[in-house]
Amino acid sequence: MDLKTLKNQFYSYFGEGGTVMAFASPGRVNLIGEHTDYNGGFVFPAAITLGTTIVARKRNDTIIRMRATDLDVLVEADLNTIDAYKDLPWGNYQLGVASELMKTGILVPGCDLLYHDTTPHGGGLSSSAAIEVASALCMYYLATGRMPDMRDMAVIGQRAENNYVGVNCGIMDQFASAMGKKDHAIFLDCKDLSFETVPLSLGSIRIVISNTNKKRSLVTSKYNERRAECEEALTDLRKVTPTLSHLGVLTPRDFAAFSGAIKNPVALKRAHHVVEECERVKQSVLALKNSDVSRFGQLMNESHASLRDLYEVTGPELDALTEAAQNENGCLGSRMTGAGFGGCTVSLVENENVEEFMKNVGEKYTKAIGYAPSFYVTDAGDGGRILTI
Ligand code: GLA
Repeated sequence: MDLKTLKNQFYSYFGEGGTVMAFASPGRVNLIGEHTDYNGGFVFPAAITLGTTIVARKRNDTIIRMRATDLDVLVEADLNTIDAYKDLPWGNYQLGVASELMKTGILVPGCDLLYHDTTPHGGGLSSSAAIEVASALCMYYLATGRMPDMRDMAVIGQRAENNYVGVNCGIMDQFASAMGKKDHAIFLDCKDLSFETVPLSLGSIRIVISNTNKKRSLVTSKYNERRAECEEALTDLRKVTPTLSHLGVLTPRDFAAFSGAIKNPVALKRAHHVVEECERVKQSVLALKNSDVSRFGQLMNESHASLRDLYEVTGPELDALTEAAQNENGCLGSRMTGAGFGGCTVSLVENENVEEFMKNVGEKYTKAIGYAPSFYVTDAGDGGRILTI
């Protein structure tokens, strides 16, 4: 939907007049570095060209009114009782952001907001981070008339999800959404948020996202369980290396020296994945800088195997999709992306093979699982921004 149509829709819902503005923030695909962010490790995501657009107008009171283009819902919330809306089926991400911004002293004004999302919901491409970061930028701008530091908006989005929505996620999704750069991926060190944008010089290779279309359940509880297992491993490791700050800072060599301290064999597997995955991220960035896309693909395949065998977050759908992809002509590498348990895979595919790839992988997956996947051929896009409307 173009901005003009969105603006007209906004007027028909909320009335004409006043100064109307537009803000956008994208979803993300993580190329490699999974379940490492909350362990203070490395990730390598890129913002995609699907995301959230908000058309917004300030009001003269403390009421936030929100609608979405794909939902028949009107949410009205009073900023004076902002913590009363945590259980809303739609609108809680946005109000969580308002709540977190207000905690930092930003005087969020009442406003009318129309949301338009193109990231598939619940598909593992961070539709929620796109909503959070676009909302943070929008509300910050309406409050102050200034462009914020987008890193701060990423943190606000993560806090909204942790404190208001109740999902204990790391920083990767919101950071990628806030800081994405066209044709680049972000090499982010999650222990201190230092980062580097790396050109995605993939030559004739395209990024193909495949959605398992699995209805996900219990993702939050399984996600939190993995986090707890990593914390258990860290606590044990600190008995032999007391100054260790995060699992993600251990080199594979240090891990080999200290890992005997981890009592629970499950926690040991989880920690093993985290340490090797961080190493793979570093090697992937190096491979990309050396234009060695085959090596990058190989590391992606290894990442998937580790998420399947050591971290155990894949499941039959993601495994079937990845296996079909890895066996296709012109596919350099394929892995699950995001939290897992369903959601999407990311594959690197030669441009000339993309059509055939989607056809063959689609058929094999449908035969194995019983329903079809969806595909998106994507480019790396820009992060949170103000649009001219
Ligand atoms: C989800 C979370 C992220 C990250 C990934 C796994 O997307 O929101 O913070 O932990 O899972 O890498």
